[in-house]
Amino acid sequence: MSHIDSRLTTDVDRAVKVLRDGGLVGLPTETVYGLAADARQAGAVARIFACKQRPPDHPLIVHIHRPAQIAQWAREVPAAAWLLAETFWPGPLTLVLPRLPDVPDGVTGGLDTVALRVPAHPLARELLARFGGGLAAPSANRHGRVSPTTAQHVWSELGDAVDLLLDGGPCRVGIESTIVDFADGGIRVLRPGAITADDLQRVTGIVPSTRAGSGVRAPGAMTSHYAPSAKVVLVAAADALAEVATWRERGARAGLLCACRPDGLPTGVPWLSLGVATARQAQQLYARLRQADELGLDILVAVPPTDTGLGVALRDRLLRAAGRGDGRVFVQGTPPPDPQD
Ligand code: TXA
Ligand code: MG
Repeated sequence: MSHIDSRLTTDVDRAVKVLRDGGLVGLPTETVYGLAADARQAGAVARIFACKQRPPDHPLIVHIHRPAQIAQWAREVPAAAWLLAETFWPGPLTLVLPRLPDVPDGVTGGLDTVALRVPAHPLARELLARFGGGLAAPSANRHGRVSPTTAQHVWSELGDAVDLLLDGGPCRVGIESTIVDFADGGIRVLRPGAITADDLQRVTGIVPSTRAGSGVRAPGAMTSHYAPSAKVVLVAAADALAEVATWRERGARAGLLCACRPDGLPTGVPWLSLGVATARQAQQLYARLRQADELGLDILVAVPPTDTGLGVALRDRLLRAAGRGDGRVFVQGTPPPDPQD
């Protein structure tokens, strides 16, 4: 592997050239880092799938510079979608809309819809402005793994499979965008994020529904997502110490992920602080999941935040990290939602 310094840059013009030549660029956004390619070049888009080891029927988000560019990708834009675009773009919101026929199948996974987002990170904005077109960009992690929130994370996930890596510092939001679609005149949240259901309702006057197990939208049968190598076990705060003790008795190396260090946590059990404010928790979550692996934990006992506001998205990611199958243990709460990438 070449040294990271040869690929790490803030030079947007260099990134534009790589993209025009069909290359892959590590792209900082306010949510997580993306792995970007020219959405109109089938070969470049195919390289994203190879690099991520992502199933080919798993559609990508197209990142654009301005709301007006929706018209280059979507054939129909409901009034509610325009309202949301005008209110929340640039920002952590992805709109799923009926696609125009010339949108490459590689981007949409053959679906009749295309997912669009205008990211807010200044480097992403500058890149999109100078590039002019749309950038297909999934999160820059290997399929099913934790999304990267620093350039260093991208490098450790993908290394020099990325032609160039734009360094935009740590991501401000820290978890992936809210994804919505507009089926049957309503609004449906396919993936919760920093734009909450309340935000969507306030702007559109429509009460959003949440994704009701429609496997159609994100095909594939993955067992776990956003997952570290450590098994993630979710518990209520009151049960955390007992859960840690149980795993230690079995000889497992356990750590605890929660807002506040509980009294009585044995010394030698790593406490991975999530912080108290939910915005901070979102910023830190993926770095903490990576830290669990760096510490060589077998088990990460995690106390999910409350189920309101941004906490809904945090719980969603923790549920997915706790995943099904793959020997991961799931202790408490509802079954994890359908897989997403
Ligand atoms: O914040 C984000 O959205 C980040 C940054 C890089 O922009 N991107 C991201 O991309 O999270 P990715 O590929 O990891 O997740 C995109 C999700 C996938 O679950 C995919 O199934 C869904 O978007 N998606 C893409 N196109 C879709 C479509 N036409 N209909 C429904 N879901 C779609
Ligand atoms: Mg992803």
